[in-house]
Amino acid sequence: MGIEQSLNAGARRASGTSPVGAATMRAVVQHRYGPPSVLEVSEVGLSPTGRGNVLVRVRAASVHPGDYFVMTGEPYVVRLAFGMRRPRHVTPGMDLAGVVEAVGEDVTALRPGDEVFGWNTAGTLAEYASVPAKNLVPVPANLSVVDAAAVPTSAMTALQALRDIAHVRPGQTVLVTGASGGVGSFAVQIAKAFGAEVTGVCSTRNVDLVRSLGANHVVDYTKTDFTRTGKRYDVILDNVEAHPLAAVRGALAPTGTLIPNSGRGGRWLGPISRILKARVLSGFTRQRLRPFTSLGKRQDLLTLADLLTTGQVTPVIDRAYPLDEAADALRYVGAGHSQGKVVITV
Ligand SMILES: NC(=O)c1ccc[n+]([C@@H]2O[C@H](COP(=O)([O-])OP(=O)(O)OC[C@H]3O[C@@H](n4cnc5c(N)ncnc54)[C@H](OP(=O)(O)O)[C@@H]3O)[C@@H](O)[C@H]2O)c1
Repeated sequence: MGIEQSLNAGARRASGTSPVGAATMRAVVQHRYGPPSVLEVSEVGLSPTGRGNVLVRVRAASVHPGDYFVMTGEPYVVRLAFGMRRPRHVTPGMDLAGVVEAVGEDVTALRPGDEVFGWNTAGTLAEYASVPAKNLVPVPANLSVVDAAAVPTSAMTALQALRDIAHVRPGQTVLVTGASGGVGSFAVQIAKAFGAEVTGVCSTRNVDLVRSLGANHVVDYTKTDFTRTGKRYDVILDNVEAHPLAAVRGALAPTGTLIPNSGRGGRWLGPISRILKARVLSGFTRQRLRPFTSLGKRQDLLTLADLLTTGQVTPVIDRAYPLDEAADALRYVGAGHSQGKVVITV
């Protein structure tokens, strides 16, 4: 069955008119919130591409802490966006890279056979994904599809934090905590590309990695507390929030920008009370305290594609898991010790 026919079959199946003979694909599915054991690999019907969408044959997808929160449904506040009783989208995952298999009506920028990477709100851990064309850009020629899959959410978060929130300029001092993680490993490289003097905070085993990313200085948090060195930074991107806000502010220049960026927190509200505290406090100090939520933006992915093409940014891949072991991948990401990005190959 050709892919267009498959799609039509999928569409008929979705509308309940003709489930017989519908093309299927393997996909990770979850029918309830819970630990990684709720994930199963099943045969499911192919989604129709729809107007403005592209059917991507997924080659690789990456996972990050946000995928873990959505899988568990905790903090509970995530359910407001992803479904109150059960996940709205049964297939998890947000980031992907692969090959365009078919394009829907109105799509002119992409053609079958194009290698693309991007993000999808309706799931990526599957053999195929129907993705809005505006969420996809071509994979740079010097990048493997696995490397490309590692980029979207984490690198867009790092880019938006440093460029749009902190307005990093050449010569500024930038400190990145969690410098060895998914966001941090991109942030160190992007801050360097912006001409900043970068300090990365990481554990002993990651010191060489963070230095290799271009950090001018590395603080090993098992030996040194960056809030107590007396140094003050123009920008702090705090991906971990292991210290109280007051202590981190002590390491921030008097008019510097602090981006508290950890999504971790209590079972109900996650980081929300910390975010509110930072926002309220921000009104009473010259220091800029700016928690933010990253957004998928095609233009930012194109900017990142340029940085990847010139070699100013290179994804760090920690581990790659096959689709069948997606639960192990999420379990690993949930533990919070990733060295760069965790990828699932399809
Ligand atoms: N604002 C947004 O919209 C947005 C978007 C994406 C992600 N985020 C948040 O950003 C945070 C980071 O995400 P990620 O993908 O980078 O996580 P990650 O891949 O799990 O990385 C976390 C890194 O932090 C290191 N680490 C742990 N404790 C540390 C400490 N005390 N000091 C310095 N480093 C430490 C870990 O390595 P070791 O344990 O070996 O030290 C690991 O490499 C998450 O909480 C996520 O929710 C926010």
